Amino acid sequence: MLVLALESSCDETAAALVDGAVVYSETVRSQLDLHHIYGGVVPEIAGRAHLEAVEAIVGQVFADAGASLADVGGLAVTQGPGLVGALLVALSFAKGLSISARLPLTGVNHVQAHALAPFLREGENMKDSGSTPSGPELGFPLVALVVSGGHTNLFLVESPLRFQTLGRTLDDAAGEAFDKSAKLMGLGYPGGRVIEEMARQGDPDGYKLARPLWGKGLDFSFSGLKTQVMTVYRQENMDDEPADSQKLKDLAASFQAAVADVLVHKLEMAVSRHRVKSVVVAGGVAANGALREATLRRFAGLAVGLPKLSWCADNAAMIGYLGGLQLARNANILDLAAEAKPRWPIESLK
Ligand code: KG4
Ligand code: ZN
Repeated sequence: MLVLALESSCDETAAALVDGAVVYSETVRSQLDLHHIYGGVVPEIAGRAHLEAVEAIVGQVFADAGASLADVGGLAVTQGPGLVGALLVALSFAKGLSISARLPLTGVNHVQAHALAPFLREGENMKDSGSTPSGPELGFPLVALVVSGGHTNLFLVESPLRFQTLGRTLDDAAGEAFDKSAKLMGLGYPGGRVIEEMARQGDPDGYKLARPLWGKGLDFSFSGLKTQVMTVYRQENMDDEPADSQKLKDLAASFQAAVADVLVHKLEMAVSRHRVKSVVVAGGVAANGALREATLRRFAGLAVGLPKLSWCADNAAMIGYLGGLQLARNANILDLAAEAKPRWPIESLK
C-alpha cells in the first residue's frame, strides 16, 4: 500500500511516498539558511517556513513518482516529539487531507521512526543512491541507538512496533553537544559536520577529555564534555588561533573521539545484556564517519544497520515506513481531535 508521509517536527519540511520499506519519492526542504545566523532553531520561524513549504513539497513527491492521491492507501504524519508549532503544520495538513480524500491517517513517533531508518530501500526510480544500508540482514531483537540534535536514546527493539527504552541522555543530546561545542569553538552552526571535518586532520588523543558515565549504566551525559571543551579552548587561548589551527583540529578530534567512544561503549554494554541479532545506529549524528566506523569495527560479528547519510537526518521516508506498519495494524489512527505531542516517550506507544 502506497503511503504519503509528512514530517515537520523541527527544521526540515519533508514528504515521501513509500510502499513498505521502499521509497518511491521524497523531498526534504531544509530551513538551515533561516536559522543558522541565530545559532539554533527559532520555533516561530520554523512554523512559518513549514507552512510555506508543505503544499509544494507534497505536490513535488507526487510529480517525482508520477503518482496521484488516487494511488495512495493511507497517510502518516509525525505526531511528536518536536516543536509544537512545527509539528502542527504537517499534522493539520494531514488531517485535512485525511478528511477530504477519505484516507486513514496514523501518527508516528519521530524517534522510533529514526531507529527503523536502516530498513529503508530506494525504489527503482530513485537513482541517486548512496551507500547501500545493510537492512535486509537485520533481524530482531536488535539494539538501536538514536542520536540526533534533540535525542540520545538506547532501545531494545523486539519488533518494529515494540520498543523498550534502555538508556537516555540525562542532559544534552549527542548532536546538541556537537552543536554547542562547535559554537564554543567559533565553528558555527550546526556543528556536527564541521567538527567531523576539522577532526579529520586532528589528533584524537591531543587533549584528554572525559568519557562521562563510563561503565555506569546505560544512560548518557554530554553537558560536562561541552564544559571541558570550553575549558581547554580558554586555557589554550584558542580564540587567538587561525580557523585552521592544529590546536582546534586536535580539540575537535578529541571531542569527537570522546563522544563516539561513549556511544559505542554503551551500545556494547546493551548488547552484552540482551541477546540481539543486530545493532542499529540512527539519527543525525549517525552520519558521523568516526562513529560509523567504530560501530562497524566493534560489532563485526553482528548485522549492523546504519542508514544512508540522507536518512540519518530528518526525513519523511522513515515516517512512511513506520506509518505503513501502523496503518496495517490500525495503530494510532488519528481523527480531527488528535493533538501534537511535543514530548512523547516511546513506551506509551501500543
Ligand atoms: O536527526 P537530525 O537531523 O535532527 C534532529 O532530530 O535533531 O539531527 C541533527 C543533529 C545536529 O545536532 C547535527 O549537528 C548532528 O545531527 N550531525 C552530526 C553530523 N551531521 C549532523 N553530528 C556529528 N557528525 C556529523 N557528521
Ligand atoms: Zn530527527
